[in-house]
Amino acid sequence: MRSDKATQGVAGDSGAMTTDLTPAHPRCEYLTNPLGIDIARPRLSWTLDATRRGRRQSAYHILVASRAALIPAGRPDLWDSGKVASARSAHIAYGGPALGSGQRCWWAVRVWDEDDDVSASSALAWWEMGLLHADDWRGAWIGLDGDAHDDGALGGDGGEPDAPGDGLAPSPYLRATFTVARPVARARLYATACGLYEARLNGRRVGDAHLTPGWTDYDKRIQYQTCDVTDLLRAGENVVGAILGTGWYSGHVGFGQQRGHYGTRPQLLLQLRIEYDDGTSATIVSDSSWRGAAGPILSSDLLMGETYDARRELAGWDAPGYDDARWGLVSVVGRDGTRLVADRAVPVRVTQELAAQSIARVDADTQIVDLGQNIAGWARLRICGAGGTCVRLRFAEMLDTDGRLYTDNLRDARATDVYVLRGKDEEVFEPHFTFHGFRYVEVTGYPGDLAPDAVAGRVVESDAPPAGLFECSDELVNTLQRNIVWGQRGNFLSIPTDCPQRDERLGWLGDAQIFARTACANRDVAAFFTKWLADVADAQSPAGAYPDIAPLLALRGIDLSRGAPAWGDAGVIVPWTLYQVYGDTRILEEHYAGMARWLAYIGAANPDHLWRAGRGNDFGDWLALDGDDPANAFGSTTPKDLLATAYYAHDARLLARMARILGRTEDAGRYEALFRAIKAAFVAAYVSPDGGVAGETQTGYVLALHMDLLPDALRTAAAERLVALIAGKGWHLTTGFVGVGYLLPVLTEAGYADVAYRLLLNETYPSWGYSIKHGATTIWERWDGWTADKGFEDPGMNSFNHYSLGSVGEWFHRYVAGIDTDPDRPGFAHIVIRPHPGGGLTHARATYDSIRGRIESAWRIDGNAFTLGVTIPANTSATVYVPTREGGEVIEGDAPARLADGVTALAIEGGHTVLTVQSGTYEFRSAVGDDDRAE
Ligand code: BGC
Repeated sequence: MRSDKATQGVAGDSGAMTTDLTPAHPRCEYLTNPLGIDIARPRLSWTLDATRRGRRQSAYHILVASRAALIPAGRPDLWDSGKVASARSAHIAYGGPALGSGQRCWWAVRVWDEDDDVSASSALAWWEMGLLHADDWRGAWIGLDGDAHDDGALGGDGGEPDAPGDGLAPSPYLRATFTVARPVARARLYATACGLYEARLNGRRVGDAHLTPGWTDYDKRIQYQTCDVTDLLRAGENVVGAILGTGWYSGHVGFGQQRGHYGTRPQLLLQLRIEYDDGTSATIVSDSSWRGAAGPILSSDLLMGETYDARRELAGWDAPGYDDARWGLVSVVGRDGTRLVADRAVPVRVTQELAAQSIARVDADTQIVDLGQNIAGWARLRICGAGGTCVRLRFAEMLDTDGRLYTDNLRDARATDVYVLRGKDEEVFEPHFTFHGFRYVEVTGYPGDLAPDAVAGRVVESDAPPAGLFECSDELVNTLQRNIVWGQRGNFLSIPTDCPQRDERLGWLGDAQIFARTACANRDVAAFFTKWLADVADAQSPAGAYPDIAPLLALRGIDLSRGAPAWGDAGVIVPWTLYQVYGDTRILEEHYAGMARWLAYIGAANPDHLWRAGRGNDFGDWLALDGDDPANAFGSTTPKDLLATAYYAHDARLLARMARILGRTEDAGRYEALFRAIKAAFVAAYVSPDGGVAGETQTGYVLALHMDLLPDALRTAAAERLVALIAGKGWHLTTGFVGVGYLLPVLTEAGYADVAYRLLLNETYPSWGYSIKHGATTIWERWDGWTADKGFEDPGMNSFNHYSLGSVGEWFHRYVAGIDTDPDRPGFAHIVIRPHPGGGLTHARATYDSIRGRIESAWRIDGNAFTLGVTIPANTSATVYVPTREGGEVIEGDAPARLADGVTALAIEGGHTVLTVQSGTYEFRSAVGDDDRAE
């Protein structure tokens, strides 16, 4: 629909603006002003600011232009959406002509409100296309052959650092010079590596991303990054360069001391495009004209650490005027057909710096720094001393009983950085191509006592914007929430890893699926997971099996290509979660065929609908505590075929819903029937007539209840049995990775919020509180990672930074504070606010920056007085459940809620007053009974 008003607003805004409803936070493909994307029809989103209640968008108008000035001038040369009558504010696909490589697109949007009054224009935003076609890349992959050339810069007489001993070669330094003779309008650096790269231009680091290009299956898809380097160029001679590291490509990854998963030597592919003011352009590419040398990085490896000899620094190598006569020629490798794709995720960055909390000397040569927080990242060392002095940094999550570093649980990850001093002034060292999981830094060989700022912790993570906050009146719960967030920050690093410290750091699908919704509540992980789902798709087997890990690796002794139940199912559950949280239907479309193949793969091997055959590594309810069977090392007695069949049913039901959403009606019917058939088989095989679930484990009941696998008439009995099992353990949980995420939600839905709180607030073993009482600053891999009785668990598998058992975080947001999306109107288009006060908490508060703007739910109990503050973003609505004593009335502001502006409906339901409210901020008050259980 077009209207005359359409062309005036964004064009002139002058006088046309009549509403205070304002589009804000314009984003493209989940990112603010993304540089170098390769999505043909990028999707645009915005939120809406408003000062009054009940504000709605009735129409939008998007302008897209090739130059910024064309937008205010009202002359969009790429796309003019016209005035579109629609409430949509998220995922609106660019509708103009096909875009070319490197094309910059400026855009703005304005909206009309519920009275058809037009808004001001949003701030100008942009996106820029990357290199869209394989033949846009004109350079070659380059590296250094053999032992990297040594330019002979080593001077001094100091001792040699410890030999790395892994056959890891020094990092290549690569450089090329070029001349800029005319004024530059803009310049872009496109770069990637097989391995890791740090690009340099005229003595400066390019961009602030680390560990680029990130981890993908380099045999299938390699990401490149795009940087605006206009300001780094200068007239005359210029130098572009890069340092390479082994990274996931050729260094150690995973267990089994394996390296070289994709290749043996790192290589660089780079392209610098310069556009001059006069309309001409130049392209500098990586090719045989480059020169290379080995420098100070003697070895670098994600698991092993980095050895850096500052005496070998190539001072000035990346700046004009350097004499590279002693550098060698680079080796050149032609490009194969491997796809180069634009990086669509958030970059890995240093996001925070932690100061030493304490420093202890453990012997004459060794001091230990405690950062007070278990993190992923590295340490920055400041030091003065004689040239050749060798300082060693080792990293650990824990100390042993003697106060020394506990590194047994790192297995084969050496996690050691070595720095050899150059010997003048203060020297500052940070490694380039490694990261560690640690709280403690052991420093050996440091001359004298460490100054308080000699060692700082550098927190490194995929820099996903903060999205949600949760806090309440209970400090234990607040600590748990903090630990969950730190667990996420320590493990969302290019991919969702299991742990950041030992020789593993793999993208385990089981961990990711159980934690995905919690992750979304804490951070905006849409771009991060969208990228990782491409890794999952890349790893799907020809037969249809999703893997256990993505990117998939061939690790010695274990085939991880046939996804185990609850692991492979991430291929279905994570896209569904993104759809729920962000309303993203494209992610469903992109992965629909793969999901269908996964279901067909399970179905083909299991015609009777019980998932018995083809369960790959069949991890079961990993690290549960319900078994006493010493033969079952990981303590789960949940029957593995039951667990598998539950997930199979869950997948079928989710796929049926996705098929409906995508308009695939026939498929939807087929998957609905499949779900019913699996459910019937499940009931026949595992459910007794009195509501018993085979295996009698907490996880068995939790799965059956959560995944709707019980006859309605037996749900109450099954929930009672679940509670009895918990009571039988002295009110403790026994769930492993699989059951833990659904445990408190299931209890709450079944009317046992009191039991859920009891588990949450436990401080005795096993519980979240137990780890906190014993100093946890992250989520432990195992409930029994450390116990007072046994000390450390088997170091063969005992990480102190694994997020899976932190999947309880979802419950804080969705149930305690009670912020949820209406599953039928996902992406928080319609919001459900349903707090579940309990556990003696006197207040709880969550905020969530949804794709439609900020949502808030904050409740407080004072005696019998209950207050609920709610904020609902403009252009959305909510159903709000206010706990109310029987016969009580809800007040909003000074008057009965039913009379309040923005409140449009009211019902009484199960101890709640249920209100339908329009956007805005409200404060509801009610009287509640003495019993603090909401249900
Ligand atoms: C990982 C887990 C993973 C599991 C498979 C472990 O070694 O650390 O997080 O899910 O193996 O069960």
